[in-house]
Amino acid sequence: MLKVLGICGSPRAGNSKFLLEEALASAKEAGKPFQTAVETEFWTVRGKKLSGCVACDGCAKDGTCIIKDDFTEISQKWFDADVIIYSIPVYHMGIPAQLKAFIDRIGNSQFGRYAGIFPQGAATLPKSLKTIGCIAQGAHVFSGQEYTIAQVINHALLMGCIPVAGDMWQSYIGAGGWTCNDIAKDAIKKQYAQALPDAQIAVTASRDIAKRAVEIAAILKSGGREMKNTLSAYPIYTPFLERMD
Ligand SMILES: Cc1cc2nc3c(=O)[nH]c(=O)nc-3n(C[C@H](O)[C@H](O)[C@H](O)COP(=O)(O)O)c2cc1C
Repeated sequence: MLKVLGICGSPRAGNSKFLLEEALASAKEAGKPFQTAVETEFWTVRGKKLSGCVACDGCAKDGTCIIKDDFTEISQKWFDADVIIYSIPVYHMGIPAQLKAFIDRIGNSQFGRYAGIFPQGAATLPKSLKTIGCIAQGAHVFSGQEYTIAQVINHALLMGCIPVAGDMWQSYIGAGGWTCNDIAKDAIKKQYAQALPDAQIAVTASRDIAKRAVEIAAILKSGGREMKNTLSAYPIYTPFLERMD
């Protein structure tokens, strides 16, 4: 079984939500040819409280963050998932503050959570081997989509995960979209219904990303099951092995 967690980075129920729902529907389908059941979950920053990291180093002990807000819930879901799909509205050429706060905190939290599995003084970033895909859309064209996706790719690498893109030509490094200068929350949905080409590309790319992320996660997990005994001698793969069913 694969757990797919969709994280929507928009404070409103809008374009990011629409594309993420398309992606999650595609993820569900993608498991079938791989004889893998897929469970999907949609989570959004909308209405949630996610404060910024205060650099207290409190999470160094066991990964628990001292700030009591919605990070506690979403971080556990993040650790449990095999696949993460982020759907992000571009803000100021990058990731909106609420989601960036989560990303900063999950990074240090994962480090603290697994530091104890390594010999003393040898703690390093563990290999979680989730697949991570990113959808980013903004109001304008060439206005931060690639930067935003690149930031998520870096996040994936730091978390010991595998960044995944969809298929050429719609999706080089992730799914990018723009609303043709329309700030309405349903702009891409409407343009998709009107068969406008850029909206079609955004939807196709979002669906492709999720499909490939599921397929690659299925391949990884099958390999992980096969190599379970060998991998258990390597503490660095602990977060991956914890997800074996
Ligand atoms: C604070 C803020 C900053 C924004 N910055 C950008 C930007 O740099 N580039 C861009 O293309 N759109 C920008 N936008 C527009 C949103 O990315 C765009 O409206 C997007 O479709 C919103 O997605 P949502 O419907 O999922 O909320 C910004 C919007 C806000 C509120």
